[in-house]
Amino acid sequence: MTAHAPELLIADDWRDYRLLDSGNGGKLEQVGPYRFVRPEPQALWAPVRPAADWDSADAVFAGSSGDDEDAGRWRFNRELPQSWTLTWDDLAFVSRPTPFRHLAFFPEHSVHWRYAREYLKAHRGPQPEVLNLFGYTGLASLVCAKAGAKVTHVDASKKAIGFARDNQQAAGLGDAPIRWICDDALTFVKREIRRGRRYDGVILDPPKFGRGPDGETWRLETDLPELLDACQTLLRSDPNDRASVKGFMIATVYAVRLSYLALAQTAQQMFSGGDWQAGEMCLPHDGRSELLPTAIFARWRSQ
Ligand SMILES: C[S@@+](CC[C@H](N)C(=O)[O-])C[C@H]1O[C@@H](n2cnc3c(N)ncnc32)[C@H](O)[C@@H]1O
Repeated sequence: MTAHAPELLIADDWRDYRLLDSGNGGKLEQVGPYRFVRPEPQALWAPVRPAADWDSADAVFAGSSGDDEDAGRWRFNRELPQSWTLTWDDLAFVSRPTPFRHLAFFPEHSVHWRYAREYLKAHRGPQPEVLNLFGYTGLASLVCAKAGAKVTHVDASKKAIGFARDNQQAAGLGDAPIRWICDDALTFVKREIRRGRRYDGVILDPPKFGRGPDGETWRLETDLPELLDACQTLLRSDPNDRASVKGFMIATVYAVRLSYLALAQTAQQMFSGGDWQAGEMCLPHDGRSELLPTAIFARWRSQ
């Protein structure tokens, strides 16, 4: 096992999304035809655009001062539709302001959509199968389905699965082979191992804390090693041989006190051989060279 120099993965492939500015704990974004101001705890620096640009945003999410980073509410400066359609590459999907601060997509993830798509397009043999855990908006599931994979999408929230299915319709992928499963991620993965199922790719974007539909608790800092190990088992062609692991794995983590190295070295204990990358995902600013860091990641694919 070798320590990796961190890599910065920059999501610079958007036309419908632009980070216009950030600073003073906030960010100013262009999302389709609308402008938003949202809290951004990483943006300790000063903004560079004039205050008038920030003041002209269509909506502002005012965070509350408690411990929960996502809490707060929207203030609309003009009337906006409830939702609108955006595209990434040739994938159409629905964006809307959610009560949890975000706009129903996480633009920095496009760096992993490309990675998964590249793997799947180069795949030879039977139709590849991808497992997307904590799948929420379903955008990673849809990218993989579009690239020819059968997809199993797991999320503990029925409502979140409903939004992902809306995106399936928006993308025109109504007939794509996607299983939408409402379950606790770790429980589901253990069940798949018992059933002898195997996958060619696993994507996981776990929250710091979450609950399964039957009240199961997910705590990233204690449960992640077990989940990573179980994902590794699902990628083995021979269930009894750790060295037979084949495919790809993408793990991302937000807003925890973990270094990318903690994530990478934990994952590297489970997977042998292959190509590793680990570091931070970032968004580029419009017209300025500084990057906005968003999450840590570790990803692997077999050679
Ligand atoms: C950080 S979001 C994932 C975002 C996703 N990568 C995307 O691009 O849309 C975390 C998701 O995990 C789900 N979740 C929380 N606890 C869970 C659990 N124990 N099992 C499965 N899903 C869970 C939440 O409902 C939420 O949709």
